[in-house]
Amino acid sequence: MANSDNLNSVVERKLFTEAEIADTCKRLGSELTTAYAGKRPIVVGALKGAVFFLTDLFREMDVKADLDFIDVSSYNGGTESTGKIVVEHDMSKDVKDRDVLIVEDIVDTGLTLQFMKDLLLKRGAKSVKCAVLLDKKARRTVDIEPEFVGYECPNEFVIGYGMDFDGLYRNLPYVGVLKPSEYQN
Ligand code: PRP
Repeated sequence: MANSDNLNSVVERKLFTEAEIADTCKRLGSELTTAYAGKRPIVVGALKGAVFFLTDLFREMDVKADLDFIDVSSYNGGTESTGKIVVEHDMSKDVKDRDVLIVEDIVDTGLTLQFMKDLLLKRGAKSVKCAVLLDKKARRTVDIEPEFVGYECPNEFVIGYGMDFDGLYRNLPYVGVLKPSEYQN
């Protein structure tokens, strides 16, 4: 039944379906299983957007690994990054001499990933790599590339599967493009 509160009503078009995302998690999980064979990495989810991707991806990794979270925010509820980054909630594990895999939903300007990598390397991590579902290369302002990438993302505002607009739509089960009418006056 039609419902104006329905999450689908703000989606211009689907970009990646649930089935496609599941296949991509399997592919990346297999790459990560190889990359971290014989190691015991700390898998760090970057809250909040990466939660859905992390839980699906982690279950595709046949690797002994620790799990942790960090909340680093760069957006202030709108569609553009402010460039200002703050640690809202820190990790609980000590990364010294550990291999760390950051899991992100999206890399946009790259500022958030660069900030986290610098922070964890400064704390003595042996290696810091990143697995990301969506790589929005067109928006990059710093020289950084995630090592494990699900999809290259078009330069549009995407929501769903963890990604929000003004705090909403994270629980859409697929990735879609937000209707411009939702953020244009
Ligand atoms: C989003 C996303 C990345 C970051 C990418 O997080 O999860 O962490 O922005 O942008 P950047 O490459 O331009 O730095 P956000 O700060 O919106 O927090 P959230 O995960 O809680 O939505």
